[in-house]
Amino acid sequence: MKITIYKTFLFSLLLLITNSCTSTVIPLEEVTPILELVTYEKDVKTIMTSHCTNCHIAGGSASFLSLNTYTQVRNSAEFGSLIGRMNSNTNPMPSSGKLSASILAIIDQWKADGFLEN
Ligand code: HEC
Repeated sequence: MKITIYKTFLFSLLLLITNSCTSTVIPLEEVTPILELVTYEKDVKTIMTSHCTNCHIAGGSASFLSLNTYTQVRNSAEFGSLIGRMNSNTNPMPSSGKLSASILAIIDQWKADGFLEN
């Protein structure tokens, strides 16, 4: 009798453990994995021309900070507020709203890889 109770207890414990392990998967926003080194020419330039240089260029509404060359973008990313502003929830760039997590991950990886040009 005692053994049966003990076995039932063990079995329930096992059920509890296995169930708790298979349950919740926290849904995260899909981020495309980055498999290669990120470079300005290959990855960052098109992000800037698609989302930033309509304003951040000579003659544009934000011409005080041109983001049209490698040196300009690198300076702003390394020493300025480019990465902070792109990731800001309260004051993002572009001001219309933060870009997708996949794009922001490319910029973060560009920094991690050492702001490579090519
Ligand atoms: C619709 C025009 C527009 C677009 C598009 C835009 N910006 Fe801006 N940006 C501005 C204006 C105007 C300011 C100045 C006001 C402010 O700081 O919010 C500014 C400010 C900034 C600053 C702060 C500069 C400083 O020295 O204070 C950074 C960095 C920046 N933008 C980066 C970006 C990046 C990177 C993108 C693209 C991902 C982008 N911006 C897209 C108009 C724009």
